[in-house]
Amino acid sequence: MIIKTKADWEKERPLLLEGLREFASVMKHRPFQNEQGVRGVSAFALYWFIKQVKPTIVFEVGVWKGFSTWVIQQAAPDAEVFCFDPIFLIEHLLEPRKVGPTYRSARASYSHQDFSCANIQELAAKSPRPLVFFDDHQNKLARLLQARQFGIRDIIFDDNDPSVGSHRTLEEDRMDPQSMAVLEREVDNYEIFPALWDVDALLNDTLRIKVDGMGFPIERELQEIYNEREWHSYVTYIRLPIT
Ligand SMILES: C[S@@+](CC[C@H](N)C(=O)[O-])C[C@H]1O[C@@H](n2cnc3c(N)ncnc32)[C@H](O)[C@@H]1O
Repeated sequence: MIIKTKADWEKERPLLLEGLREFASVMKHRPFQNEQGVRGVSAFALYWFIKQVKPTIVFEVGVWKGFSTWVIQQAAPDAEVFCFDPIFLIEHLLEPRKVGPTYRSARASYSHQDFSCANIQELAAKSPRPLVFFDDHQNKLARLLQARQFGIRDIIFDDNDPSVGSHRTLEEDRMDPQSMAVLEREVDNYEIFPALWDVDALLNDTLRIKVDGMGFPIERELQEIYNEREWHSYVTYIRLPIT
């Protein structure tokens, strides 16, 4: 498994800055201000990885209000998008006033089925570059193995913190020799998107994020993304080998 290092990211600084400026202008047209899920640099990380991979079909697992669906569609406007979240089973019962704004797209398909039970293999096999984005707070190694089983080699995980609490992350698995052996066997590339600016934030009673950033400039057009920098959620891209 090749793990992308700080030095590797440093080499991409000019391209990252160019991509960030582009994302800042895309964000001017956002459907609403996201208050849960990907925000700030994390939203850019999702955009960045998708732009790099250029998927033809995207499975989004964990959708909530749909902000990440919108980001995915900005990054890959021609990709088919299939969204999975148990919330869709009861969404019609929720009071729109309490939920607030949502983004649902006529160009995406929605299902309340679990990813592990849906016809992913069949859909993925019909498209040259399938990608899955997991933001569902389920154990990540199990999700990785399901993706592999369905023939998907490009995976993005949100919330891959070393101590997220709600589920087991790959950063936790990397500290466990048995799980690490599985990762070494199953994964070609492992890339955690870096903090672009320093982060020192207490996100709740137990979760403190303190990381050194890459010292990006705080330009006027980047200010809104900079303001949300504390939502650094270790967005991680995984590339699996050909089987
Ligand atoms: C953090 S929210 C997603 C936020 C969204 N991706 C964004 O960035 O705007 C997590 C979502 O995962 C959903 N979820 C929980 N279990 C799930 C499962 N097994 N499959 C798919 N989604 C699940 C929850 O219902 C919730 O809507």
